[in-house]
Amino acid sequence: MDSSRKHIVLLPGDGIGPEIVQAGWQVLQWLDARFEFGLSSETHAVGGAAIAETGSPLPASTLEACKGATAVLLGAVGDPRYDNPQAEVRPEQGLLTLRQELQLFANIRPVKTSEGSLRWSPLKPERVEGVDLLIVRELTGGIYFGDRARGSDESGRWAQDTMRYSEGEIQRVARLAFSLARSRRKKLTSVDKANVLHSSRLWREVVTEVHKDFADITLEHQLVDSCAMRLIDDAQSMDVIVTSNMFGDILSDESAAIAGSLGLLPSASWGSAAPALYEPIHGSAPALAGKGLANPMATISSVSLMLRHSLNAAEQASALDRAVALTLDAGVCTPDLGGHSSTQEVVQVVLQQLEEVCA
Ligand code: IPM
Ligand code: MG
Repeated sequence: MDSSRKHIVLLPGDGIGPEIVQAGWQVLQWLDARFEFGLSSETHAVGGAAIAETGSPLPASTLEACKGATAVLLGAVGDPRYDNPQAEVRPEQGLLTLRQELQLFANIRPVKTSEGSLRWSPLKPERVEGVDLLIVRELTGGIYFGDRARGSDESGRWAQDTMRYSEGEIQRVARLAFSLARSRRKKLTSVDKANVLHSSRLWREVVTEVHKDFADITLEHQLVDSCAMRLIDDAQSMDVIVTSNMFGDILSDESAAIAGSLGLLPSASWGSAAPALYEPIHGSAPALAGKGLANPMATISSVSLMLRHSLNAAEQASALDRAVALTLDAGVCTPDLGGHSSTQEVVQVVLQQLEEVCA
């Protein structure tokens, strides 16, 4: 493959997914026209949209395309049509299989406030000002991928999900989290439930062992219940958080209260090799779909992460971050942030701001 070629696979998915991926791609196209990255793209189905088309939430053609991509931009998966106990295939399975097939073992979820964003948070401004967190969520192990079963016996129905971690799985995500902390404020909070769970006790042991190679980083361990509280009342004291798949899922949605809306938070999923996958942390919001109400900022900020980490375009990533901040500061935002702008109106203003920032 031509090494200058940068091929992006777009996976709109369900609900508001198509609108926000469209927004992300518009921004990428604008930057490509300006800076000649040599981008190309192809679009594939995933989630409920793919089930409707092919019967599978991750068709083989979608997976193949992703494997050959420089980076993948995903919208969201989740569709009420398949959201019932009888459903044999679920849209979410498409995303989980994709993460596993691409071996994207770490999901990076930055949460940062700015002067202008404080008013969106339901929390007191003095609790959220200056928050700059990086949640590193283990993404291909734990209870999401452990053995499951359902059955029934004389006492009734039962169901079971298994939370299992190997030391290798913990080591690789811990190493990444420590390295990320090294380029920041050098603090790592490892979050577990070691007072109850075996898998968490192993987690704690292994993270402590990996710490030996990162002696310049301050490591603390915290139980997940107490971390949930700390995110609300003292997130300023944290820098990088590393945690298991499910705890990371929950804590990152919680941290959206710090930023003010789920519609603002981006994410990057990384493995040991390309491609990486970029997606907003929010879901498919079926009630908002097709109405132009979706906040495109989480996806646009995911594009910024893609620029920085997969497209070797750190300068353009900073310009895009600046354009997003200027747009929000100007009060141009969707209804989740109390604004009156549509998805496309927000995108157009981001592009105008980019024009000025890049001038
Ligand atoms: C997320 C989502 C997914 C997850 C769902 C859609 C499977 O909530 O990316 O946070 O639980 O990982
Ligand atoms: Mg989630």
